[in-house]
Amino acid sequence: MHWRQELQRQQAARRDQHLWRHCQPLDSPQSAEVRSQGKTFLNFCSNDYLGLANHPKLRQAAHHAIDQWGCGAAAAHLVCGHMTPHQDLEHRLADFVGAERALLFSTGYMANLGIPQSLLQRGDLLIEDRLNHASLIDAAHLCRATLRRYPHRDHQRAAQLLTTSQAPRKLLSTDALFSMDGDRAPIAHLNAATQKSHALLLLDDAHGFGVLGPCGAGSYAEQNLTPSGHRLLLATLGKAAGGFGAFVAGDALYIDQLRQHARPYLYTTAPPPALAATALAALKLIATESWRRDKLHESIHYFRTQAAKRGLKLLPSETPIQPLLLGTAARALQASRQLADQGIWVTAIRPPTVPPNTARLRITLTTAHTQPHLNHLLTALTQLNQTPQ
Ligand SMILES: Cc1ncc(COP(=O)(O)O)c(C=O)c1O
Repeated sequence: MHWRQELQRQQAARRDQHLWRHCQPLDSPQSAEVRSQGKTFLNFCSNDYLGLANHPKLRQAAHHAIDQWGCGAAAAHLVCGHMTPHQDLEHRLADFVGAERALLFSTGYMANLGIPQSLLQRGDLLIEDRLNHASLIDAAHLCRATLRRYPHRDHQRAAQLLTTSQAPRKLLSTDALFSMDGDRAPIAHLNAATQKSHALLLLDDAHGFGVLGPCGAGSYAEQNLTPSGHRLLLATLGKAAGGFGAFVAGDALYIDQLRQHARPYLYTTAPPPALAATALAALKLIATESWRRDKLHESIHYFRTQAAKRGLKLLPSETPIQPLLLGTAARALQASRQLADQGIWVTAIRPPTVPPNTARLRITLTTAHTQPHLNHLLTALTQLNQTPQ
């Protein structure tokens, strides 16, 4: 095979199918308004749900930590890269979510890869929602367990898979709040089904942490549950917490197993200590400034009510993720460009991130958005809706 010709062919096909992606650099920090290539945009596609990514207290914490701890951790956690800010953050996170223990990972993607690989063996069963995040799906490749997927949010099918399996160990993993759809997993049902089958439940709360539950402790807390017993929690620090990194929380027995065996934890450099310090500062704000969540939930309510009045068919979601389904990749791309012409940034989400013919505008709302921002978006979306397809 000729490498060049084959790659050129593949890339041309991707372009023809309107699936080519590119990076557009920001010339400003994350915010409700951002600059790029000399233009200002209203940003409706970041995951900076609480407006913390450029918060002065996070910046200050990072500056101080760099002065005190330097830039790099210079080694894996278990060699000599685990520094006091990492340790403090693990304790604080465990406390915050009501778990015995928490373990830091460099990213949520890596944490998700590490969990089934550390806990399951050949002959075990991994059960997943069909619309789980790519990192949960990819985790199945790194462990030797059998993967079974159930239709989106179908807890009865999930329970059936659990009860009919003879596998010695079973783990069910699900997005708590689905990243491309904005809807939620039936946590109470999945919790009951996994408990009954002596299975583990792994909730990926990447989008719920900081946003949902009392004090922002996330989706378990919202259901009056904690990551304890058969329940594990994953959350990332790169979305509502405004920084970078991730953690898994649960009983010490499970977390110790991950610390010993999770390859994406063992074989990588620990995150810079300043990121841990930044996350500690973010946690304080998440816990104490509940007005951020209140304002965000008001914006979600306002946006949905106004969208309904204008006949916009958003997917059903009460979360900051408000997708507008458009169907073909070409249509989503065209809509995204039309919005950009009006100074609004909503990247088109296309396959393979979402299933074929479900390309969409994944609109995300944050605490930093004001009502005029939302009105501007609503007007632009309404015009879009009226454009002949
Ligand atoms: C549901 C979900 N899980 C995991 C991740 C990965 O987290 P991270 O960005 O920290 O790698 C993401 C997004 O990035 C996500 O949306």
